[in-house]
Amino acid sequence: MNAPVTLFHISDLHFGLEDRRALDWVEQAIAAEHPAAVAVTGDLTMRARHREFAAACEWISRLAAPVTVEPGNHDMPYVNLIERFAAPYRRFGAIKALLERELDLGDLHVVPLQTVTRAQWRFPWVDGWVTDRALAATLAAIDALPEGTRVLITAHHPLPERAPDGHVLTINGTRAMEELARRQVLAVLTGHVHDPFDLTARTSAGPLRMIGAGTLSQRVRSTPPSFNELMIDGREVRVRVRNLAAVPTRAMQVDAVPETALPPRQPGEPVAPVNAVPEIDPPVT
Ligand SMILES: [Fe+2]
Ligand SMILES: [Fe+2]
Repeated sequence: MNAPVTLFHISDLHFGLEDRRALDWVEQAIAAEHPAAVAVTGDLTMRARHREFAAACEWISRLAAPVTVEPGNHDMPYVNLIERFAAPYRRFGAIKALLERELDLGDLHVVPLQTVTRAQWRFPWVDGWVTDRALAATLAAIDALPEGTRVLITAHHPLPERAPDGHVLTINGTRAMEELARRQVLAVLTGHVHDPFDLTARTSAGPLRMIGAGTLSQRVRSTPPSFNELMIDGREVRVRVRNLAAVPTRAMQVDAVPETALPPRQPGEPVAPVNAVPEIDPPVT
């Protein structure tokens, strides 16, 4: 029987508009608590500027744990479209030397799934797209693992393909969710929406746990800056949303994947009050 593993799931740091107090708090928590790894689910920067990546590198290099980072839609050149098409991940690649691409924690693996693309047939290019190639790479990585290996997926965009009103969110998300459910991954960890959630989706291949982390930036949406502490015990994943405002976990979690990650408020505006739920840790679903 393997000992429980603790991971920190953080997301949407948005260097350039980062929350310095939140970053200092997370850095200290990592140094004090020694999680087995830190999984960052994208949007390290605001506009993929060189100075923003440099600041992200500096912060990540100080973390006392192995780190894996998925690129987010904000991590690709925003103004320089020539570079965006020719070398979309070159700037993001500057931090690769600091990272683990796929985390190997014994019989628990963290496997990435890329949901960003250099261009799309729709505009703006904010939402996700799981290309056939990206999905094939992730499934091949899972299928190459020894039987019984527990798998967590990291991606930037939540995978649901359509919002309730029919609006397309993550292209090819339905198929990706089915394939991951078929392989019985423990959960899909994502960012992008800036509010945490812990939901279980039904797919034609079975249930799929979807866990979203909030933001550590000033671009808060409806909850204060936060990160997820994940405790993996066997095939059980317990989520605790930690935040500087000490809001209970269940009150921090939105009850659906929001349609867009664009924060509705400007930095400096007060955070909307969240529902008070008198319970710290949510039941695992
Ligand atoms: Fe973001
Ligand atoms: Fe994003």
